[in-house]
Amino acid sequence: VLSQSVALDGLPEELAEELTKVARTRPVKSGQSVFEAGDPGDGFYALLEGSLRVILRGEEHEQVLALLSPGAIFGEMSLFDGEPRSASVVAAKPSRVAFFDKSAVYRFADDHPAVYRHMLAIVGKRLRASNASLAARSLLPLSGRVAQTLLHLADLFGKDVGQGRTLVHHKISQADLAAMVGAARENVSRVLNDWKREGHISRISGYYCIEEASVLRALATI
Ligand code: CMP
Repeated sequence: VLSQSVALDGLPEELAEELTKVARTRPVKSGQSVFEAGDPGDGFYALLEGSLRVILRGEEHEQVLALLSPGAIFGEMSLFDGEPRSASVVAAKPSRVAFFDKSAVYRFADDHPAVYRHMLAIVGKRLRASNASLAARSLLPLSGRVAQTLLHLADLFGKDVGQGRTLVHHKISQADLAAMVGAARENVSRVLNDWKREGHISRISGYYCIEEASVLRALATI
């Protein structure tokens, strides 16, 4: 059982506090999965500490669908549609998750319907992001796809650092970026290096910083 409440993705604090009373927590080692695609969906999770990757494993490559930071809710899709897990969720570093059992969630949410509204908002946002990336993939050249992905990550993890600059405050490897964009790492690396040279982005303590969002936005426009 959780000792302290956590800020959960857009959920009002008092609801999150009540909800966390029915949670069980567990550590996840770096590289370990919380669950694998195809597993039965027995409830949903919240990330308390650490960093997770939502992935689909292919024969040769993996597709990174999303990166999750503390406060993120995941595993809600199977909860609602009753299908097996749609993707695997793997720890990018030592992490801690809270698990909310299906029947406890339903009992709680039936008493507090606002929970459904917030979950729907999360699902809606993810569907939007995934539509944008689908469209980008078929309609934009590589630079546009990288720009679209970086701007999406800035929406999720961005910190305003003044003068219109946004620090993407989440460790993102070039391999992850490439697996999100669906391109070879070397090609993504070339795009990023060009942008660095031209001053559109920079690196600050290992994080990407968007220096000229307007340039990236123009590239990402379909
Ligand atoms: P579920 O299908 O239960 O298990 C895998 C989880 O990954 C899924 O619920 C969502 O919480 C999460 N997920 C799947 N696809 C995406 C996506 N495109 N963006 C963000 N999260 C996702």
